[in-house]
This record gives sequence, C-alpha cells and structure tokens, in this order.
Amino acid sequence: MSKTKTLFFCQSCGYESAKWLGKCPSCRSWNSFAEEVVVKNESTKNEWHTDSSKSKMIKPKTLGEIESAREVRIDSADKELNRVLGGGIVPGSLVLIGGEPGIGKSTLMLQLGLSLKKTKVLYVTGEESEQQIKMRAERLTTKTSENFFILTETNTKNIFLAITQLEPQLVVIDSIQTLHSSLLDSVAGSIGQVRQCAGELMKFAKETNTPVFLVGHITKDGMLAGPKVLEHMVDTVLQFEGDRHLAYRILRTTKNRFGSTSEIGIYEMQGHGLREVSNPSEILISQKDGPLSGATIGATIEGNRPLLIEIQSLVSVASYGTPQRTPNGFDQKRLNMLLAVLEKRCGFRLGTQDVFINMAGGIYVEDPAIDLALCASIISSMEEIPVSEKICFAAEVGLGGELRAVNRIEQRIAEAEKLGFEKIYISKFSQKSIDLKKTKIEIHTFGKLNEAFNHLFR
Ligand code: TYD
Ligand code: MG
Repeated sequence: MSKTKTLFFCQSCGYESAKWLGKCPSCRSWNSFAEEVVVKNESTKNEWHTDSSKSKMIKPKTLGEIESAREVRIDSADKELNRVLGGGIVPGSLVLIGGEPGIGKSTLMLQLGLSLKKTKVLYVTGEESEQQIKMRAERLTTKTSENFFILTETNTKNIFLAITQLEPQLVVIDSIQTLHSSLLDSVAGSIGQVRQCAGELMKFAKETNTPVFLVGHITKDGMLAGPKVLEHMVDTVLQFEGDRHLAYRILRTTKNRFGSTSEIGIYEMQGHGLREVSNPSEILISQKDGPLSGATIGATIEGNRPLLIEIQSLVSVASYGTPQRTPNGFDQKRLNMLLAVLEKRCGFRLGTQDVFINMAGGIYVEDPAIDLALCASIISSMEEIPVSEKICFAAEVGLGGELRAVNRIEQRIAEAEKLGFEKIYISKFSQKSIDLKKTKIEIHTFGKLNEAFNHLFR
C-alpha cells in the first residue's frame, strides 16, 4: 500500500521542506514546521480556462436564489451553554472548548451528553478509561441515558468507523490533542496532527450536519500547540475559565459564527458536577455583617445580562518604594487612569498609597460602567468610611472627572431594584433615557465625580 505523501510547511511563511526543521531557512522563525498531507493536482495546467462545459456547473447565485434554511438548534437543556452558543447547538457546527487542565471541560461535556436524552451522543475520549467515565457519570447523575455512547479511541479512522455504524447526532471529542490521523507520521498533539484531525472532523460535521464539540487544553498564556491554530477553523470557540481553587467557572465565547461573543455562562463546581448559576448577582455579592470600608457594588452588563458585582479595594500607605497597584479582575491601565483622575480632579493623595482591587467571584470586568463603583470603593477604603450595602453605582468616569452615561441604564436599574437596592448613583447624562416615575429605587444623578462623593461621604 502506498503511503500518502506528507511534507512539512513553515506555519508562518509557508516554506516547504521534505523533513522537519527546527528553524525556517526562509523566515527564520523557530519551531514553526508542521506536517501536512499533500494532495497532488491532476493537472499542472493553469486553473483559468475558457471551457464553457465546466463553468456551467459552477454557477454563482444571487441571494434571492438561495433558499433560506430555517435555523433549527438543538436545545441542550443547559441554559448557560445555550445562551453562550447563541440559543442552542447549531447542527453541523464545530465548537472548540478550551481551558486549563482540571477546570471542568470533561465534566461539562459529559453533563451535556447525559442531559440530551433524545439525542444520540457519542463521547470519544482519549484521556480517560471507560471505567473512569462511568465513575464520573455516576457522580453526576443517578439515571443513565440510553442514548449516550462512549468510545475510548484516538485514531480518527477508527472513530469514523464507529461513527458510521452508530450514526450519532452529536459528537464530543475529548481531547483534540490526543487524536491522531494515520495519514501523518507526527505524534498526537503536534500542530500538524491537531490540524489534520480537526480538518477531518470539520469535513464530517459539515457533510453530515452533525455538531461536533472538540475539547482542547490551553495553558494560561494560551500557548500550547493546538487550540490556537484551530481557532480559525472552527465555528465557535468557547473558553472555560475560573480559578481552580474557587468554585465558580465562567464560560465565554471568543468567536461565534452563530451568535454574540459577549455572552457568558456561569457555573458552580459542586460535588456532583457543575450547577448552572441562573442568578449570578447573588453569588457576586458577598455576605457580610454590616458595611465594610472599601466594598461597593457596581451594576455592570456582561453580554445581555445585568450583573451586580462587588468590588473590594484596599488602600494603605506604601511602605516600600514604588507604590503597588494590583487589580484583580480589572485592567491595570484603566486603574492607573482612574487613580490619576482621583488625584488630579478630586484632590485625593493616592501617589504614596498601595492600591489593591479585587472583583468578587473571579470575574474579569471590562464594562466601563464599573468606574464609579471602583472610585467610590477606593475612596471608601482610603478614608475608612463604609458605603451602605444598599447603594450601587453605574457610570463611566472620564478624564476630566466627569461622569458619563452608560448603555442600557434601564436594565441596570431594573436589576438593582430587583435585588433590593435602595439607591443607585448614575450620571446625569443617563437621566434623559429613563422614566424616573416608574422606579421604586432612588436614583441619584451627578455630573462630576466630586459631586457624587460629596453626596456619598458627607
Ligand atoms: P475535569 O472535567 O476532569 O477537568 P478537565 O477535563 O478540564 O481537565 O474536572 C476537573 C475537576 O473538577 C476535578 O479536579 C474534580 C472536580 N470535580 C468536582 O469537583 N465535582 C464533580 O462532580 C466532578 C465530576 C469533578
Ligand atoms: Mg478532561
């Protein structure tokens, strides 16, 4: 039997070589060669020809000529996952779920498979034995599903054999780094293998309209050969993150062809699997006896969901040289900017203080509406004046110390009201878009950071 021809290509410039090279002679990048299967063209002639018999079959269409397919999605019984995917699993989609080892990717996929009672699921694992999967499944649920099948296999050819026999309606591959295709000589997990296997699975997904989930390991810096090169091949990239030592896990999309990338799903890892957290604001606000200086609550929006998040600050005199500015769950540069605004526009002497910031629940907040809450939290800690836990904030802070309007203010106010807050501090420029009479919560509007502080700390 003749072996398929494979060649090595530099991933950054496309240089071709018959054997693996450590350094590309052309673009000089290191460790950039990956093995690929080469398919010879039947003709070496130019692709451009005026032969009209062929061009009749390949005919471009207008949008009107294309029949619009009704979008049917598989409802995954997991509301958080549905939301993150943009409303359910799209048939024929290839979804990559990445995350650090031990974060709970296998658990999430196993739970998904077991919850889809009416869909035939094939769970292919190259990492764990059948017994291990069974033990884990028993932890997750007491009922077994008749439609859930497990295969421990790493060779793509055998996997496709099993798929042809079983005809599953959803396939989970755990993990893509353990698969290998016999068409390539390189070891499982190398860039070439990962890409080849994902390519084969993509072809399968698109041709049979079966959704495929690929699990991929990523280290903190997102390195590790594999998932990064896959990101442009797949339809959706999910990132499962969180601190392994904390119970909360966040599922985000970094790419989604079928929905928004700003949605997040929140889970809690428990003794018997992942629990969906449907009211995240409750967990993001810590329980404590009475108000504490340095703790405030910001009304943010993640995706389409309003979230009330607790911010804690600790401001103390810097005892060694340069003061430290350590934000946890917030952008360092933005913190520096806000500190400069507090110093210059409001006259607080923060230059000699260490500032530590912590967002509750290990969440990373990008919404600028958190600015006012963050500033209030810093000043509260510095001045040792607690802020009542019945107050929340939603405004962006500008370089002039002015409070700016934020988007979807009604939604934030409604969430704060729902959770029993008594007051919300917003920008006066947000005021025109809201109907003040309809709300029970007291709305305080300010134009400047100073005015808000005078009202809050007087
Ligand atoms: P796992 O899904 O194996 O992570 P990954 O596939 O991303 O490497 O699970 C990770 C952790 O979750 C593991 O340390 C044990 C814990 N865990 C629970 O706390 N409760 C459970 O019910 C299960 C199944 C796992
Ligand atoms: Mg795993």
